Amino acid sequence: MAYFFDQPSRTFNEYLLVPGYSSTKCQAKNVNLQTPLVKYKKGKKPALSLHIPLVSAIMQAVSDDTMAVALAREGGVSFIYGSQSVASQAAMVKRVKSYKAGFVTSDSNLSANSTLADVIALKEKTGHATMAVTDDGSANGKLLGLVTSRDYRISRMDMDRKVVDFMTPYTSLICGHVNISLKEANDIIWEHKLNNLPIVDENQNLKYFVFRKDYETRKSNPNELLDDSKRYIVGAGINTRDYETRVPALIEAGVDILCIDSSEGFSEWQKITIDWIRKQYGDSVKVGAGNVVDAEGFRYLAEAGADFVKIGIGGGSICITREQKGIGRGQATATIEVAKARDAYFKETGIYIPICSDGGIVHDYHMTLALAMGSDFIMLGRYFSRFDESPTNKVSINGQYMKEYWGEGSARARNWQRYDMGGDSKLSFEEGVDSYVPYAGKLKDNVDLTLNKIKSTMCNCGALTIPELQKKAKITLVSSTSIVEGGAHNVVLKDSTTTTPHKN
Ligand code: IMP
Repeated sequence: MAYFFDQPSRTFNEYLLVPGYSSTKCQAKNVNLQTPLVKYKKGKKPALSLHIPLVSAIMQAVSDDTMAVALAREGGVSFIYGSQSVASQAAMVKRVKSYKAGFVTSDSNLSANSTLADVIALKEKTGHATMAVTDDGSANGKLLGLVTSRDYRISRMDMDRKVVDFMTPYTSLICGHVNISLKEANDIIWEHKLNNLPIVDENQNLKYFVFRKDYETRKSNPNELLDDSKRYIVGAGINTRDYETRVPALIEAGVDILCIDSSEGFSEWQKITIDWIRKQYGDSVKVGAGNVVDAEGFRYLAEAGADFVKIGIGGGSICITREQKGIGRGQATATIEVAKARDAYFKETGIYIPICSDGGIVHDYHMTLALAMGSDFIMLGRYFSRFDESPTNKVSINGQYMKEYWGEGSARARNWQRYDMGGDSKLSFEEGVDSYVPYAGKLKDNVDLTLNKIKSTMCNCGALTIPELQKKAKITLVSSTSIVEGGAHNVVLKDSTTTTPHKN
């Protein structure tokens, strides 16, 4: 007879934290969010830790090199999506590892044939006013000139006017050479009162920009997550099929941590993949596995040698796995059970394997709950997809800015490696949707606010670290009527069109 769980599975929405005693020391500024990323032996330190308990999802719409740099700068890690060719994924990893802080690859580029209409469209898309004009319209083409909003007046000029007619040409620009240091670049910017400094090589090819506006942010980054060579830490998703070519290419590119990306990870394929990695590289290559939703799944991946284990099936915001296949488990219940299994494994073996709750976070307080329930860190897709740094288009829908966000199991992602078990492609079905999410601005502003909320709640629970929260948290189930009580009720809300972009 089938096994029946005696309790229904539950979501984060069904729980609340009950405050505990907090001393005067319990202030947000005293909270430390350091958390392990990979397994470690009792009494030892993990080889990799996070400064903040957030990682970005292994998704086309979320984690590319731009996201990875922005998140590592705040103390978290991005797992660059694997639903792309080995070469392009490795190139993204390489760009993160060779990223020179303060040197920005141009994301707004025009060619000599571009027109004023192209300038307006590009500004709408990227939100950036400084555009490079290069011979081939690429970020590293030969620099012909620059266009900024000072170079054109929309009311006085034809939309089909060519940019070469009104750009500031290369001969009038002050540029830095590619070997310049950040300090030297900043000195030139200050000396000549520039807003930006294009950095070119000996063939006049554009390499980067250094922007005046970045000066202050560059100085205040105490949380940056760096390797021993002061390069940003970056992760990457792999699959259980082409790992023999993908893993070596990612390692060659400098990746710090891998994660097997699968919607259902309690499978022999994961063990075969980890075995291969261990045979080739021993323990020097770190690899997470998942996703699982119960103690048995955790135990299997722990014994297979996973460096961390990821939890979650069917809870993602774009996910329709539960509807399509009838598998999954409420994210809170899955996290609680796997955390218990992790603690039991630690007690038994002296090896602590971090766990990561993946998907289903709707409100910031869900993150605090996930941590309190035992998660060491949290993977988020929708949350990060809303920011400037996600790879997707920003579009205006009915006057509101949105970003695109689609599932890895949607037709758009065509991620056969994650979702298809092989066989006739005509019989494949979607497990994710294509959607919009409200645009929310810069990653840093949003992450700062979210972390402040987490820290503040931790203080209410009398906890200054994540392990302390896990020990001290008092968690209660809530009835459906008390959920109504928890929102604004019995008042007439004023116009809410001005709600802050951070609200999610
Ligand atoms: P979110 O943070 O709730 O948006 O969930 C993100 C997570 O959903 C990812 O980290 C994946 O585990 C999962 N996911 C991504 N794409 C799909 C899909 O197409 N179907 C089901 N789950 C998905």
